[in-house]
Amino acid sequence: MIKQINVGVIGTGWCGGIRANACNSNPLVDKLYIAETNETRINELKDKLQLEEATNDWKTLINNPEIDTIIISATPEDTHYPMALSALQSGKNVFLEKPIATTMAEAEELIEVSIKNNLKFTIGYSQRFNAKYAYVKKTIDENLIGEPVTCLVSRNITRELGAKISGRTALSPAAMEATHDLDFLLWCLQPRKPVKVYSQTSGKLFSKNSNTPDHQWIMVTLDDGMTITIGAGWILPLGYPNFSNTWIEIIGTEGSLFIDDTHKDVQLNTVNKGIQYPMSSMPGEPVEHTYAGPMHEETNHFLDAVALNKPVLVKPEEAKLVMDLYLAADLSVEKGEPITMPRNKS
Ligand SMILES: NC(=O)c1ccc[n+]([C@@H]2O[C@H](COP(=O)([O-])OP(=O)(O)OC[C@H]3O[C@@H](n4cnc5c(N)ncnc54)[C@H](O)[C@@H]3O)[C@@H](O)[C@H]2O)c1
Repeated sequence: MIKQINVGVIGTGWCGGIRANACNSNPLVDKLYIAETNETRINELKDKLQLEEATNDWKTLINNPEIDTIIISATPEDTHYPMALSALQSGKNVFLEKPIATTMAEAEELIEVSIKNNLKFTIGYSQRFNAKYAYVKKTIDENLIGEPVTCLVSRNITRELGAKISGRTALSPAAMEATHDLDFLLWCLQPRKPVKVYSQTSGKLFSKNSNTPDHQWIMVTLDDGMTITIGAGWILPLGYPNFSNTWIEIIGTEGSLFIDDTHKDVQLNTVNKGIQYPMSSMPGEPVEHTYAGPMHEETNHFLDAVALNKPVLVKPEEAKLVMDLYLAADLSVEKGEPITMPRNKS
């Protein structure tokens, strides 16, 4: 007989809402708990989900011995480390939204505690669960385009999202957006490792009121000589809430792979609002009985990993390497020169 698990979700906004929804409908989950500081949101979810308990104090979930698994989707991002550390120290499996931490030392500590306590610990790199992105891995694994020579990913999201993200944290577009692409490309290209990174930012919009750049380019050389270039920006006109637009090119010695993830394939045109692009967010929204994007599937994968004792797809050590790389990219911006990897951790 399959053992059910009891899950607590901390922070149930945009992403945590999707996670809690997935837990609510997954038969592997027995009891579902949430911790949320926004009372309106708590009441909304109390109506929608079957909750064992809803609290505004996340420590209540950590101290509850019935809960074996915690999903952390709170913001700002500097809440992640204390929440994840307490959960892991209390013997709970942890799903943590990216970024894994704010310093390399914190990331290392979380990984150490998860290993010591024999717990599942993973990071929310949702795009690995997007079939188009998994197809890149399949193409490379099956040698369909020969030896990869260079990859380009250009990702842009709306200024509405850019303002939300940059309003709560000083983290760069590399840390908050390109992080998804650094992760998925390093995953697809394993066992190659980064040896050099150069990055430049530009800003003419957000920079009027803050130090936040509008866009960041990151160019990475891997240890077999191939290059990857990732662009991440967050000032697209509003258009549709949480719209994201991504273009991917992988060029190999025997072929190429182009992926259009610009989310223009569903176009709603109304007299009142003009053209809109539903189902265009990165995590993906609920659509009737189904979900448009990867986050629902990703959450189910984690629940499977815990309940059925299977490995997690995103290993925390991989997230630590991604973090090392985007920190190096930010350092390159600061110094105006390429940074060699691996580098001394700080
Ligand atoms: N994987 C992806 O595609 C993806 C996409 C967007 C965001 N994210 C990540 O997910 C996380 C959440 O982002 P979001 O856009 O859902 O944010 P959000 O602001 O919509 O939701 C965060 C929620 O946490 C709650 N909260 C804040 N402090 C809390 C606390 N101390 N205890 C309990 N609840 C608390 C807030 O009230 C809010 O409801 C971030 O780390 C972000 O980087 C991932």
